[in-house]
Amino acid sequence: MDKVDDASSILQLGTAFAPAKILHSAVEVGLFEALQDEPADLGQICSKLGLNPRLTRDFLDALVVLGLLDKEKGRYLASETARKFLVPGQAGYVGGRIKIGGKLHYRAWQSLADALRDGLPKADIDADAKAYERLYGDPERARVFLSHMDASNVMVAPQLDECIAWSEYESFVDVGGARGQVAAILAGRNKHLRGGVFDFPAVRPYFDEIMAQYGTAEQVTFHPGDFFLNPLPSVDVYVIGHVLHDWSVSERRQIIERVSAAARPGSVLLIYDQMLDEDRPDLQSLIGSLNVALITPGGSEYTVAECRDWVENSGFRFLRAHRLPVGNDTVLVAERTA
Ligand SMILES: C[S@@+](CC[C@H](N)C(=O)[O-])C[C@H]1O[C@@H](n2cnc3c(N)ncnc32)[C@H](O)[C@@H]1O
Repeated sequence: MDKVDDASSILQLGTAFAPAKILHSAVEVGLFEALQDEPADLGQICSKLGLNPRLTRDFLDALVVLGLLDKEKGRYLASETARKFLVPGQAGYVGGRIKIGGKLHYRAWQSLADALRDGLPKADIDADAKAYERLYGDPERARVFLSHMDASNVMVAPQLDECIAWSEYESFVDVGGARGQVAAILAGRNKHLRGGVFDFPAVRPYFDEIMAQYGTAEQVTFHPGDFFLNPLPSVDVYVIGHVLHDWSVSERRQIIERVSAAARPGSVLLIYDQMLDEDRPDLQSLIGSLNVALITPGGSEYTVAECRDWVENSGFRFLRAHRLPVGNDTVLVAERTA
């Protein structure tokens, strides 16, 4: 996003929520799946999706301007980008993240000024110790959440494959690995690896579905547990992605300590999150940090230096950190010392 430097760009920034809401609404009404194969005109779209034409024409034309619909002779069709990333079931689907952004996150952001005053989260779900139990107890919410996770990690997984020489290792576990998409992608690319996902027991059925989808059921094992309470498996490589930012600094230290307790000398730790760069701050990571602070009691993004301090104080040697070329994550690599 360009710097705001005149009245016109200030006014434009003041309505920057509107393009986001157009996207959120298109995903919510199921527009892209409805227009993935056959073009349709305004009337057909309205009757198919139960929409009122009064606002819908401008809504569709705005999506044409945004590049998410194509329009020819008054008929609309999902653009190639929308078909690839916004139609459920596609490998690159990111609609789960858009759905959560349009509801949970959007509502929390409406109370940013209150959060700045009191420092408290503003999501309309309780972020207490039972939050995950309630989430996974409701299959519909669980699927939306897990799809949101998949959308956030689908770009990361192939890049993690480049971060270390996986041929030198035999086993890995993804700590807080959700339904296992990262583990499945890593295992699929490295057939010699035995993989694992450590997450709450309730995630297991969703993990089984993903393993069946990727054909990695024989290669990746599910380890049920709570990483604050239960020991982690002893493996060569640990992945902790989009997890530390959900917790307070002392909880992040505890998670890394628990990895350290399970690791062997030479085990590698890969941590990825939208890490902050104090010298060259970027808006996307800062938005990510505010977002997680708005929905959790202790969460925020953090700098490489902070993360380096946590791992070095837990028996790891810092090896390197770099921003991944695609997306907005930074990965830190450390090795368990003897
Ligand atoms: C924000 S998601 C990140 C998922 C995945 N690593 C990714 O990059 O998309 C956090 C994950 O950690 C899991 N998790 C949270 N607290 C946990 C705990 N105490 N023990 C085990 N898993 C936990 C959640 O169930 C969820 O799958």
